[in-house]
Amino acid sequence: MMLRLYSPAKVNLFLRIVKRRPDGYHELASLFQTIDLCDTLSFSFNSSDTLTCTDAAIPTDHNNLVWKAANLFRRKTGHAFGIKIHLEKNIPAQSGLGGGSSNAATTLWALNELRGRPATLAQLIEWSGEIGSDITFFLSNGSAYCTGRGEIMKFLDPLPPKTLYIIKPEEGLSTPSVYKNLCLDKLIPQDPLQTLHSFQTGAPHYYNDLEQPAFTMMPSLAILKQRLLEAGFETVLMSGSGSSFFCLGKGVLPPLPGFFVTKASFINRSDHDWYSKGS
Ligand code: C5P
Repeated sequence: MMLRLYSPAKVNLFLRIVKRRPDGYHELASLFQTIDLCDTLSFSFNSSDTLTCTDAAIPTDHNNLVWKAANLFRRKTGHAFGIKIHLEKNIPAQSGLGGGSSNAATTLWALNELRGRPATLAQLIEWSGEIGSDITFFLSNGSAYCTGRGEIMKFLDPLPPKTLYIIKPEEGLSTPSVYKNLCLDKLIPQDPLQTLHSFQTGAPHYYNDLEQPAFTMMPSLAILKQRLLEAGFETVLMSGSGSSFFCLGKGVLPPLPGFFVTKASFINRSDHDWYSKGS
């Protein structure tokens, strides 16, 4: 039996960092949304574990979050099996688009389906926080308000549909180093619940507290943002810890040789199905 599933990217429509925690992580509050820029994962049972990927730069050993997810699922359910996984990579790495986390969430969902649903969605959600901060979100319906490390999740109704451009320079950013460069006292102490409300009442306020450290590390990002705003887009915001941006509104893209550029739309999944394109 083979299962082939999309594994969508996400954007953070706003991202507020509230404080640094004693465990080294940061307390955040963010509105996450899945988009139809997707990897594809294929799963079939096998005598041993194998992972292949269309992108040679992606590690396929036990460090890949896909294996952390498979091992978590086997440990929690007590199910023992080998699995063959093929990953078609489209979501750029080190972009803040959550590709690795999405692959892990897709793996949890897929293995649960293939094994006859030994776990409830609530259990998958609870377990997912053990292997990363952003994995939990992808088990939502695609629109969620996340707090804590990112793993405390409030499901939201789907947001009004939007199309956007995703732009990423060749150079990526590592999440831990962006957090290390963050100066908390430089941030504007906005109330995230008020920001969430702004999205639900049709007057969205977009911001990302991680732009400050990312722009310090890579000054070309501030120039890129300015250029995209001058191209006419109403909103240009870095996603997650960068280095990608999303652009909303009626701009005309300037030439961006060497950049990853794609058009995308918000997607959501229905309660009992995984993500599909055009959903
Ligand atoms: O949890 P995850 O492995 O995705 O996080 C990667 C890194 O990002 C962490 O090791 C930490 O440095 C940083 N991080 C953080 N606060 C968060 C999420 C991630 O400091 N809420």
